[in-house]
Order: sequence, then structure tokens, then C-alpha cells
Amino acid sequence: MNVYDSKRMEDILAPFGYKTTDAPEGADMVILNTCHIREKATDKVFSELGRIRPLKDKKAEQGGQMLIAVAGCVAQAEGDFIMERAPYVDFVFGPQTYHELPEMIANLTNAYGDNRRVNTEFPSESKFDFLPEEHGSQGVNAFLSIQEGCDKFCTFCVVPYTRGSEYSRTVQGIVDEAKRLVDNGALEICLLGQNVNAFHGEGPDGKIWGLGRLIQAIADIDGLERIRYTTSHPRDMDDELIETHAHPKLMPFLHLPVQSGSDRILKAMNRKHKADLYREVIEKLRKSRPDLAFSSDFIVAFPGETEEDFEDTMQLVRDVNYASAYSFKYSPRPGTPAANMQNLIRPDIADERLARLQGLINEQQLAFNQQSVGLTMPVLIERKGKREGQLSGRSPYFQSVNIQGNERLMDTIVNVKITEGFANSVTGDVVLQETISEAKA
Ligand code: 5AD
Ligand code: SF4
Repeated sequence: MNVYDSKRMEDILAPFGYKTTDAPEGADMVILNTCHIREKATDKVFSELGRIRPLKDKKAEQGGQMLIAVAGCVAQAEGDFIMERAPYVDFVFGPQTYHELPEMIANLTNAYGDNRRVNTEFPSESKFDFLPEEHGSQGVNAFLSIQEGCDKFCTFCVVPYTRGSEYSRTVQGIVDEAKRLVDNGALEICLLGQNVNAFHGEGPDGKIWGLGRLIQAIADIDGLERIRYTTSHPRDMDDELIETHAHPKLMPFLHLPVQSGSDRILKAMNRKHKADLYREVIEKLRKSRPDLAFSSDFIVAFPGETEEDFEDTMQLVRDVNYASAYSFKYSPRPGTPAANMQNLIRPDIADERLARLQGLINEQQLAFNQQSVGLTMPVLIERKGKREGQLSGRSPYFQSVNIQGNERLMDTIVNVKITEGFANSVTGDVVLQETISEAKA
């Protein structure tokens, strides 16, 4: 979502003459859009700021001015602290106030004296009511925020505090944006929200629509080939959404985080469901779309996690059999209920559990990629690969696919026969039909 937000900041600033650059050197303004989810991400902010500071000094020596801003969830949570610890930061704003950027900049550059400002209120009206239309294209693969914030309050998570309470955009606003993205070249749209399947937006009929219905409406857009959505909560997987997974435009890959396989830990995390509910949801989804591949997030060494609890997580992973998954060591976040829990897990035990879980997940990922060998699948070619003549894209199952092919295939969907499967990618050959049309072109 930070990628989407950064893009929207560009849209807001374009009419004021700001353009993006590839490097911060010499820029008139540098905005760091930050993530607060785990300590590691937050730590990066200050090291990054330390890197940018000399660039600001250099620009000032040359008679220019570089504004430095910190945006996003670290800004939201630690705005005043940032201003104190990094006096060269000019302004700080949270994820819900970036539509006020022009005003914040004018305030800094027009007036005299010190106008450094922390803008982290949660406004009563949504930023989506104020954002301008998108400027330029996101390319073949576009993000679209449909929902933000979260009311679930998992005990480890900062999101309800940094992104604020749950908010859904209107169906019309989303469909209009999706159409413009397609007009600007998008073949695939990924619908975004911290709790995206809690979406409940007002439909054109005045009724409240869920995510399933919204996806069906977006799937009707001509020229749009692929839809994905992320990130979901198992409790919000309603029947309509599950049935929508049979739709050919909704890609057969779902990131559905469970965090732990232990009922005791799920309770301590306030996830509001048991491990078996997750298993049931997965089973229903597989009935609706038999080739659906899954990924998840896991937290190991949550306070109080016993060897038995951890083994329950390992068992859940074995039961589901993931195509990929992310796993993290628990990281206490200031202001969350879990941060006050006393029964912390020893770091060496946490490391060992993480390694075991990641070992199992890597095995499953490799097996999934190897099972694809021999299959032919449509691949959206998005970028050049690492090797000479190599192009890279995504399969319907979100695998990274590398092919040898002419650059004219870039930004198109081509059929690829998978020849080899690795831990993090597969390779394949463009199938004959495409090779013929390539030769003719
Ligand atoms: N510690 C470790 N991992 C966390 N996540 C969120 N908060 C924490 C935390 N305090 C992980 C969860 C979530 C993903 C985005 O980040 O697994 O699904
Ligand atoms: Fe955080 Fe997701 Fe839990 Fe919401 S549902 S509190 S975003 S982990």
C-alpha cells in the first residue's frame, strides 16, 4: 500500500511542478514513506534519514533547498520523536493526511520562521474524497486501494493505531479508478487493503457491497485480464467471496495470513478464530477453485509460545501445503497490548523455530514450483530478467517466471511451458504459437 500511496502523492504534486527522480541527490524534496509493522522496518527510517541529510546540506551550500519529509506509519506513530531526533526533517505526515501535501509545502516555503509541522490527525473526511485523478500510468500491473485501516486489534499489530479504523471506498469510485487504470495500460489490478476482505463499500444501488461483488463488477471491465487482492483475514472470507474465486479473471493465488497454528496462541493474539476455522475456509476455497494456491504470514515466538504451540503451527503448514509464505520473529511494538506481555521467548529459541519453519516453507515452495514443470500457463511479462535476453513475469499462481524472449513480449501475457522449478522462481519456454507470432512481427 505504501507503493500505491507514494504514487498518489506523485499525482497530488504533479500540478505543482514536482516530478519523481530516480535518486535523491539534488532533489527539491525527498519524502520517505515508511513502514512501522516490525522494528526492523522502523529502524531503517533513521539510517535512511542519516544518508539523506548530507544531500540536503550539499544542496544548501549550492544555494538551493531540499525539503525532507517523513510520511507513512512511522510518521504517524513517532512524528514528534522524529522531529526531535532529526531536526533537519522539515515535516512529518501520516497515511491519512497526504492529500494536504500542497498546503503543508506552501506553509513551509512561503512563510518566515520555523514552520516545521507534524500532521498526524485522523481527518473526519477521507482523503479519497480529495485526491485528484491519477496522473500517468502505473503500467501493466496496477495497485488500487479499496479499503484501509483495521478494527481487529490483533495484540501484536500497530496497524489499527497507525492506519486508523476500517474505511471502505465507494464502489463507484473504485470502478471508475479501475477503468482509468485499464485505459492507461493495466492488464492486472491488485486490490489493496490492510483488511481487504472486510471491504463493505456503498454500491451504486445504495446497498452495501462485499469484496466478492466488487470483484465481479471490476471483472466486467473490458481489457482487464487479471485481478488479485491482498491482504485478507480468515474471518472475513464470506461465501460470496469464496464463490467469486471460480471467476477466471480472479487469479488462483491467495495470501491468507493465519499467523499461528495454535489455538492458545491465536487467542493470545486476539485473532478471533481457531486453527480449524482456517482449515475449513481453505477447504471451501479449494472446492470453489481446485487449483487455488495459498500463501500466509506466520509469527514465531509470540510471548508464551511453547514447543507444542510451535508444533501446531508446523502441522498447519503441513496440512495446508503452501505455494509460498512469509515468516517473522515476533517483534514487540510500542503501544500494542502484546508489548506488555512478560513471557518472552529466548532469542536463541526464536531463531531456531524460525529456521525450522522457514525450512519447511522452502521445501513446500520448491515442491510447488517443481510440480509446475510441464504445465503451460499465461505469464504477464513485466520486466527484464537478470541475464542477457531474459524476461521475467508472474504466473497466475504468482510465481516468478523467467523466459528467454524478444523484448517485444514485455507488457504482454504470453503462454509459457514451465521447464524447471527452483525455490523462488521457475523457468520456461514461450509456446510455439507465440514464437510464430513473434517471428512474423
Ligand atoms: N511482530 C512480528 N511480525 C509482525 N507482523 C505484524 N506485526 C508483527 C509483529 N509485531 C507480521 C504479521 C503480518 C505481517 C504483515 O507482518 O505476520 O501479517
Ligand atoms: Fe493487524 Fe491484520 Fe490483525 Fe488488523 S487483522 S490488527 S492489520 S494483523
